[in-house]
Amino acid sequence: MSNLDKNYHIPVLPEEVINYLALKNKGFYIDGTIGFGGHANRILSIDKSINLLGIDRDAEAIGYTDSFLKKYKSRVTLIQGEFGSMKNYVNNLGWASVDGILLDVGISSFQIDNAMRGFSFDRNGPLDMRMNRNQRLTASELINTITEKMLTTIFRDYGEVRNAKKLARAILVEREKQPWERTIDLANFIKKINHEPLQKYSKTVAKCFQALRIAVNDELGQLKQGLHSAIDLLSKGGRILVISFHSLEDRIVKEMFRYEALSCECPPKLPVCRCDKMVRLKVLTKRPITSSPEELSYNKRSSSAKLRVAERI
Ligand SMILES: C[S@@+](CC[C@H](N)C(=O)[O-])C[C@H]1O[C@@H](n2cnc3c(N)ncnc32)[C@H](O)[C@@H]1O
Repeated sequence: MSNLDKNYHIPVLPEEVINYLALKNKGFYIDGTIGFGGHANRILSIDKSINLLGIDRDAEAIGYTDSFLKKYKSRVTLIQGEFGSMKNYVNNLGWASVDGILLDVGISSFQIDNAMRGFSFDRNGPLDMRMNRNQRLTASELINTITEKMLTTIFRDYGEVRNAKKLARAILVEREKQPWERTIDLANFIKKINHEPLQKYSKTVAKCFQALRIAVNDELGQLKQGLHSAIDLLSKGGRILVISFHSLEDRIVKEMFRYEALSCECPPKLPVCRCDKMVRLKVLTKRPITSSPEELSYNKRSSSAKLRVAERI
């Protein structure tokens, strides 16, 4: 692996993750977004007795991590798949329960940097955006087949784009002339519609690309499914840690943790509790944990990271 690739192993919030995981001797752990193995490497090197299941949708990430973590081979299982399906993988491994689960969601620097993956709005590449390249739906297929209403909803809901409807309409009118195939063409077109200089960074373009990426990979659906599965799998005292990079994901985590920590869901007017609501989590982070100034000084990517942690009770 070249020096350049070494950057891809720098995990965000590394100390905080280790502290909150509170690794148990001979414990069973899942890294649901193993990426380039930054967190996994730390976890495996700190406790020599634990077993780790590492999951990632991206075959390239799994390939790199397989060789990066080879010295821990006997304690690591790597699967190319979705963390939303973690229950199946755990069943296949024959694990009874799990002591800790880490989800460090979103995309990796490797995926952004590689123009051919189509995630980046300032690198010329195919409008792909699939984390799992075995998946059929690409960003270009989505944008070339979707209705105006759906594209507006994607831009508005996943990107919080202000002029979502105007942009969606213009993009669909343009596709009548030629289907959308390249990242740069779409990025420049959005700038043109917004009367922005082509050479300059545009927040709207960034938001539109984020929205398309979330839709192509069903990222919010995966997060909800992953959280449900994680809570089901955790043993008593086991912990779930989620690092997210934008407000939509953080809200999902916050709300699910809050709901699972709630002892009653009866309407407030009822004099006595009639629900059988089970409390499954204790929230350990009232506010999300963010990066220290020290971490920000060497890892800019960590600036928007938010970590929330809960414990199974
Ligand atoms: C921020 S990176 C993770 C970095 C990693 N924790 C490390 O320390 O190197 C996010 C990774 O999650 C993967 N990913 C995103 N959603 C996923 C999902 N639903 N299932 C499995 N992997 C997913 C992406 O392919 C990417 O490799």
